[in-house]
Amino acid sequence: MIVRPRRLRRNKIIRDMAAETRLSPSMLVYPVFIREGKDIIEEIPAMPGQRRCSPDTFPRILEEVRRAGVNSVLLFGIPEHKDERGSEAYNENGVIQQALRTGKKHFPEMCFIGDVCLCEYTSHGHCGLLKGETVDNDPTLELLAQTALSQAQAGADIVAPSDMMDGHVAAIRAKLDGAGMDDTLIFSYAVKYASAFYGPFREAAGSAPSFGDRKSYQMDPRNVREGIREALLDIEEGADMIMVKPGLPYLDVLRAVKEVSEVPVGAYCVSGEYSMIKAAAERGWLDEKRVIAESAVCLARGGADIIVSYFAPELAKMMKEGEL
Ligand code: PBG
Repeated sequence: MIVRPRRLRRNKIIRDMAAETRLSPSMLVYPVFIREGKDIIEEIPAMPGQRRCSPDTFPRILEEVRRAGVNSVLLFGIPEHKDERGSEAYNENGVIQQALRTGKKHFPEMCFIGDVCLCEYTSHGHCGLLKGETVDNDPTLELLAQTALSQAQAGADIVAPSDMMDGHVAAIRAKLDGAGMDDTLIFSYAVKYASAFYGPFREAAGSAPSFGDRKSYQMDPRNVREGIREALLDIEEGADMIMVKPGLPYLDVLRAVKEVSEVPVGAYCVSGEYSMIKAAAERGWLDEKRVIAESAVCLARGGADIIVSYFAPELAKMMKEGEL
């Protein structure tokens, strides 16, 4: 008798039973942009359907997100005032710290993740302090650690350093532990590429570098073994979870990192991936819902334990309705 795998595809119940990849809302993280001001919820032109909110309207977004079935959010702060040292990033009354406090007060059971980086806060738009035209790794570490601590003290359950400085996880861990915040987790963007897929994000967060690019600290898209090295170093330094970013174009990297990682691995489906799908769907060129679902399945199949996505609420709804 010949073996016929097609038998396993006979009907939906059997297909679901035989599925190798299963998704659940618990894997989803939704990114939110917080800007300074009052009573603001504004559309982000380069990311149709995504919004920036002020700390006071943030609970409204959280209500929506939670109703959709998503329990975790990742916060990006957009300050009014930027300077060379990114001081608003570690101001205890900074925009992200305010949002964390309000968010945690209204929804104590939700999981709040703070993005730790300086690029949204520096006048030059780079992710660290500058020495001439290059980013100065070691002095930047203390500022990142201060940023992480101020977020933890404001209510972040997890801090997520996305700066790509060497030694950032160790510096943050030491600072948190020294202040008695040893329960705060570190979800490190260990494997982050210098990617053009971040384009819409830089518009959303006003964080494009004013000169040059990020190639001296973010990774070269041609490399995968370097990604494994970055991942292992961050784990050794104490990362509780690590991230590969962007998502879909880097599934091979995700798989390679997953195979060597003893901690949960996240994939970040970034702004460019979001906006490409939105733009094509707007023109009627793609079936938006099906493409969103398939993309999430591919990330999970590629090894993602956690999916960070601007589509998180749509994905959670589909899961609840048994469509995914
Ligand atoms: C901050 C940061 C960026 C993203 C997440 N954290 C931008 C960048 O590195 O330029 C991109 C996220 C996205 O594109 O959705 N360093």
